[in-house]
Amino acid sequence: MTTLREYLDSTSCEEKLKDLIELVSDQAIPIRKAFISNQEYVDSENIYGEKQIALDKWSNEHLMKTFRESKLVKEAASEEEAEVVEFPDAEASYAVTIDPLDGSSLVQVNLAVGTIVGVYEKSVMEEGRNLKAAFYMLYGPLTVLGLTVREGVHFFALNEENEYVMTQKDVRIPEGKLYASGALKRDWLPEHQRFIEYLEKEGYKLRYSGSFVADVHQYLKYGGVFSYPAYRGKETGKLRLLFEANPMGFIVSEAGGRISDGKKNLLEIRPEKLDHRIPIYVGSKGIIEKMENEYDIEV
Ligand code: AHG
Ligand code: MN
Ligand code: MN
Repeated sequence: MTTLREYLDSTSCEEKLKDLIELVSDQAIPIRKAFISNQEYVDSENIYGEKQIALDKWSNEHLMKTFRESKLVKEAASEEEAEVVEFPDAEASYAVTIDPLDGSSLVQVNLAVGTIVGVYEKSVMEEGRNLKAAFYMLYGPLTVLGLTVREGVHFFALNEENEYVMTQKDVRIPEGKLYASGALKRDWLPEHQRFIEYLEKEGYKLRYSGSFVADVHQYLKYGGVFSYPAYRGKETGKLRLLFEANPMGFIVSEAGGRISDGKKNLLEIRPEKLDHRIPIYVGSKGIIEKMENEYDIEV
């Protein structure tokens, strides 16, 4: 079976980028080990006003330490930090975004959660289409890595020796029939509601876990449209452009799918600020294009 390193060596990736991808994806091992003793909510909130669990903080601090010691990262932005963290001693210039733990409200019920990573050439304040690499580690029954270095999307899983081996090459998202929408139904805006009704009428099946990374992994495999829309009271939507939308949307797009803010390709949006939030529609290309063309989704 092809290992992650063997795969990376078969690509046109720079050596330092290969080292960075390997190093960060290996942090799934200590992060998973930390689950058992970091389950509880702590007495703090992140800048989005969301309660943190100990594992959100632990994973963030662990990854920041990894970046600092690696000397491969010049700046890092995290969902759990108010400012960009600079590493002046770095010997490479990569700029990295992280959602250290996505889906953290599911940790206490033992459902799949993950870590989302985006790598840019020099700055994190970039359009998603400029990502050099994007990947996620999904902590489910297996630890799965979904990766793109702009040469297709590939899945790997940690084996018994804690080594990533390829489990699916050249993943392509099918025009499948799953759907999901975040936010309370009573707060949905009219065009979004109309779009969801269309999906239900067409026989789309509801699949929503509360962990964006796990949901998108499922949609990559089976196809359909996952959404976290603009809603009454929060017209920006909930999810974050830098940490969630861009890396996951880039992976889905590399697999032949699409990500939209309801009107246009979200990967073309320049972030206005670190905590930029955005409505999200991600999944199979055909249904998302149909939505953009036939529904006047509020953005
Ligand atoms: P995080 O755990 O990083 O704060 O992200 C949670 C996100 C995402 O994973 C999920 O799709 C969404 O928030 C769930 O929100 P609701 O609880 O509103 O469903
Ligand atoms: Mn998240
Ligand atoms: Mn998070």
